[in-house]
Amino acid sequence: MSGICATVVAAKGRFRLYFSDYYEQYMAYYHTLFVVGGGGREHALAWHLRRCYPHARLYCAPGNPGIARGATCLPIPPHDLTALADAAAALAADLTIVGPEAPLVAGLADLFKARGLPVLGPGAAAAALEGSKAFAKALMERHGIPTARYGVFDGAGAALAYIEQAPGPLVVKADGLAAGKGVVVCDEPDQARAAARAMLAGAFGQAGRRIVIEERLEGDEVSVFALVDGEAAALLPAAQDHKRLGDGDCGPNTGGMGAAAPYPLSEALRRRILREIIEPVARAMCAEGHPYRGVLFAGLMLTRDGPKVLEFNCRLGDPEAQVILPLLRIGLPDAVDALHAGRLGPHDLATPEGAAVGVVLAARGYPGAPEVGVMVEGLEAAAREALVFHSGTAERDGRVVTAGGRVVTVVGCDATPRAARERAYRAVASVAFAGMQYRRDIGARLLAAPVAGRA
Ligand code: AMP
Ligand code: GLY
Repeated sequence: MSGICATVVAAKGRFRLYFSDYYEQYMAYYHTLFVVGGGGREHALAWHLRRCYPHARLYCAPGNPGIARGATCLPIPPHDLTALADAAAALAADLTIVGPEAPLVAGLADLFKARGLPVLGPGAAAAALEGSKAFAKALMERHGIPTARYGVFDGAGAALAYIEQAPGPLVVKADGLAAGKGVVVCDEPDQARAAARAMLAGAFGQAGRRIVIEERLEGDEVSVFALVDGEAAALLPAAQDHKRLGDGDCGPNTGGMGAAAPYPLSEALRRRILREIIEPVARAMCAEGHPYRGVLFAGLMLTRDGPKVLEFNCRLGDPEAQVILPLLRIGLPDAVDALHAGRLGPHDLATPEGAAVGVVLAARGYPGAPEVGVMVEGLEAAAREALVFHSGTAERDGRVVTAGGRVVTVVGCDATPRAARERAYRAVASVAFAGMQYRRDIGARLLAAPVAGRA
């Protein structure tokens, strides 16, 4: 193992990360890198880029106090597409990586492309895979990609009739972006009826004027990520998210309370996911005139009948990014270049050495209205043991205070999932703030899981 990244990591000596010597040959090219977003995922991106390109100038908009320690933050909101493009042009950024979905769905990558600015993220037509669940379902149907049976409705009458005749439990989804809140997993038809009525009546604004009702799938859930460049795709390590607020998957859905990676997929299942889901989507987007370039995130259910798509997202997950990026042996910009040049195989990045477990520390009130302005103690102590990625923080008089629902993600990296998990929770024990809530079982299911698809 050689290369600057490896040297930096070794010099820190606190925990081993798993970089190869791939870096040095490419590093010089990336003088200036720009990250769009300001949450935990973007802190992990900024950290990853700083690690892999220690000499690059690194910018982030809008960033957060954690990101500001390793990058220059620009006060541009993610919805100001023109200002973001102006900034990338003024900085002469060699690559802009877009963290959140909203600017992609709104056409940020199209604008960058039109202005000749290098960007990692799909254009609006391809980001519709996340921006419209009805679009994603229809695409899957047209191209034979396995997913739950479904119907699309914009009126209550037909929706209620569909619920009436459905043979089993259902899931009701707002068609458009609803910040992760537009999905109701139902046990009873009554719940499905209530959810359908509420969404169509405007509970999620425009996002729910059209709804998807689909069969509820059973199985283990896994977040699969692929770098996609036209028809070429390379899997990143898979991860397991923990969406519910409470231990044992109880309580309300959240944006994600923690994640663990790599999720243990057998080689056969990994190949099947690539063959049946990722590659067909990449080909379909090309065939339909919207080639995809960026990270494709497939939320899958591993059912008895094989992997099926729950949803697509057009970006890295949060908190999945915080556990995947520390495991990568190559900088994302180099990985994309290598994929484009045909030098990166579809499985080259999928099975890293080591493991990472990330625990989200959330504010009182989350996932409802979080308590903000509360002093956060112990982050430096935690950072001696693990990685600490800021999500919803602000700085007041030089001190870190809560400023959002998910406050920080504490990520333990180690040789095994068990050691990574222990490391993460040791670090969590150093952090304290009034009302802090977190799950005690992040990574536990992954530890207990057999390798999926071995049989
Ligand atoms: P989404 O916002 O689309 O990721 O959905 C939120 C969560 O709802 C997913 O992570 C799953 O846990 C669950 N979900 C979505 N669709 C289904 C389905 N068809 N069957 C079972 N669970 C689902
Ligand atoms: N953690 C799930 C997501 O980012 O959508």
